[in-house]
Amino acid sequence: MRVLFVGDIYMDMGRLAFQKYFEQVKRQTKAQFVIVNGENIATGNGITETIYKELMSQGVNIVTLGNHAYTQRDSIDLLEKGNICRPANYGVGAKGKEYVTLSYNGKKITVINLLGRVFMKDQIDNPFTKMDTLLAQIDSDYIIVDFHAEATSEKYALANYLDGRVSAMVGTHTHVPTADSIVFPKGMLYLSDVGMTGTKYGIIGGEIKQGIRKFLSGVPERVNPENSGPLQFNAVLLDLEQRKIERINIYE
Ligand SMILES: [Fe+2]
Ligand SMILES: [Fe+2]
Repeated sequence: MRVLFVGDIYMDMGRLAFQKYFEQVKRQTKAQFVIVNGENIATGNGITETIYKELMSQGVNIVTLGNHAYTQRDSIDLLEKGNICRPANYGVGAKGKEYVTLSYNGKKITVINLLGRVFMKDQIDNPFTKMDTLLAQIDSDYIIVDFHAEATSEKYALANYLDGRVSAMVGTHTHVPTADSIVFPKGMLYLSDVGMTGTKYGIIGGEIKQGIRKFLSGVPERVNPENSGPLQFNAVLLDLEQRKIERINIYE
């Protein structure tokens, strides 16, 4: 089973980059199953129902989210009914699914999204113990984890904790792709961060002049997107049977 995972699609430029490169990458990699991180795909973060339907019609199977899962208040119902994983380690009563399981060619594939706790603001449950709970319930041929986290130390600790228990763990959230695509000793495919899909020179997707102004003044502002310039498309191909992992990094 060849799974393509596309990193954080960031707002308008992200949707543009996805339109431009997705078909070509899917064809070239012969991907059979597609997961995208859509926590920033809508203008203003989060995801909308219209965008979700568009992704599904283009051949995406499952969407994962992150710390912006609940940003679009009108789309929270979508989290309950779509093939969408919100971070599983939100607490009791959080809307949406802790994981999504689909069948492909007689095999069951489960996708789980988790939030990290290091340098992250949300008061969420421990991702390590949450995985213990989930793995006791899930009976699938393949399990893929999107660990939406800031710190590479936390990512490597969870990776070692999950090796041999899940098929693959990839990181998202930093918007910068890492080069450490490796196979762990017990066969788990791993990458610290897939990187983002969207504007190339923006400040991890944000507007350049605003980002510089914020770092000069120290005054906080809500991030505006950078809406011009060349694009980037970052993804990873996970071959779950062959246990191979291959990075796809397109920079215009
Ligand atoms: Fe993001
Ligand atoms: Fe994020």
